Amino acid sequence: MNETDTPKGTSTRVVTAGRRKEWTQGIVNTPVWRASTILYDSVADLRAAGARDTHHRLFYGRRGTPTQWSLADALTELEPGAEGTFLYPSGVAAIAAALLSVLSPGDEVLIPDTAYDPTRSLANGLLARMGIATRFYDPLIGAGMADVISDTTRAILLESPGSLTFEVQDVPAIVAAARARGVTTLLDNTWATPLFFPAIAHGIDLTILACTKYVVGHSDVMLGSVTAAPGHFARLRDTSFQLGQVASPDDCWLGSRGLRTMAIRLRQHEQSALQIAHWLQDQPEVATVLHPALPGCPGHETFMRDFSGSSGLFSFVLQGGDERARAALIDGLAHFGIGYSWGGYESLAIPVDPQRHRSVTRRADAGPMVRLQIGLEDPEDLIADLAAGLARFAAIG
Ligand SMILES: Cc1ncc(COP(=O)(O)O)c(C=O)c1O
Repeated sequence: MNETDTPKGTSTRVVTAGRRKEWTQGIVNTPVWRASTILYDSVADLRAAGARDTHHRLFYGRRGTPTQWSLADALTELEPGAEGTFLYPSGVAAIAAALLSVLSPGDEVLIPDTAYDPTRSLANGLLARMGIATRFYDPLIGAGMADVISDTTRAILLESPGSLTFEVQDVPAIVAAARARGVTTLLDNTWATPLFFPAIAHGIDLTILACTKYVVGHSDVMLGSVTAAPGHFARLRDTSFQLGQVASPDDCWLGSRGLRTMAIRLRQHEQSALQIAHWLQDQPEVATVLHPALPGCPGHETFMRDFSGSSGLFSFVLQGGDERARAALIDGLAHFGIGYSWGGYESLAIPVDPQRHRSVTRRADAGPMVRLQIGLEDPEDLIADLAAGLARFAAIG
């Protein structure tokens, strides 16, 4: 690949990004460079290596090898305007490092009420123990964020769409309010990925991916990333080094391998999920479908304005019925696995009870909720499976 040829389209960047010749050695995929010890020719060389910036230079295994740098650079290239990316052994580790790179004792962080539950646990646990206060906010607050920011607010976390219930946040309005007060913004962008929502271009300072989901794409690796806007990368990297964070070369190799097909996978997830979401909307057993591309979803207009696509994860609310009826629906599904996570090639269905994870917003749903991860199977098979599930639900409910 000639590095002076600048690829333009997103799919082209997904295929070519991060594949520097010095790292790939001419092989298509950057190989697995495993290392702890790096050997030097002399004491002088060892000392010189320690004295200079180790970015993209072999120094010690914890600082990475070309396998990690290749994936990190690829993710940076997918975020127009970004300075750099650091990788983590999970999405939660990425969220923690990003927040810790910004916050100090006495600071306050604002977190959407719809945040991924382990993010809430981090805020209520470790951050609270460190003297960092959290205020949870309504994810649909938009420009009203200006009235929420206090003198001690140092960071605003966003997650759009929100976990389980898919509220789409007005990122530009929240970024504008944050910038006016010198507050750093962080976004969990796992659902949309930079392909459907380039976060740095929308003004976000630190954008986070649980690469475990769509980047890896095959449900076999835990991995996270944080990509930083100019001026935020050095602190993120220093904090991550101090925390001893390192994602293994083997996992990063699998992450890179997954990334190369992410654009085409996402388009198929999108198409199948939309087909199924529209079908669900017409079923009498379904009260609401919470999919950002559908008008019933809070923040749908913002989604239409800001996103260029939707992925394969959404929820639906059942019309009446109880826990037992919902379990009958899910337990008998043939093509949907029952398990946490999402973003792999296989479909999943889980019962979700969002109100258990909210503290400042209230829901009044018509019945229990189910979250679906739509995989790469034929959507007609998934629809037939769900139709039988809804019949089981109706028979009990
Ligand atoms: C929105 C979101 N962010 C972050 C994570 C955490 O990622 P990981 O499981 O890799 O720690 C998840 C996991 O489900 C998630 O759904």
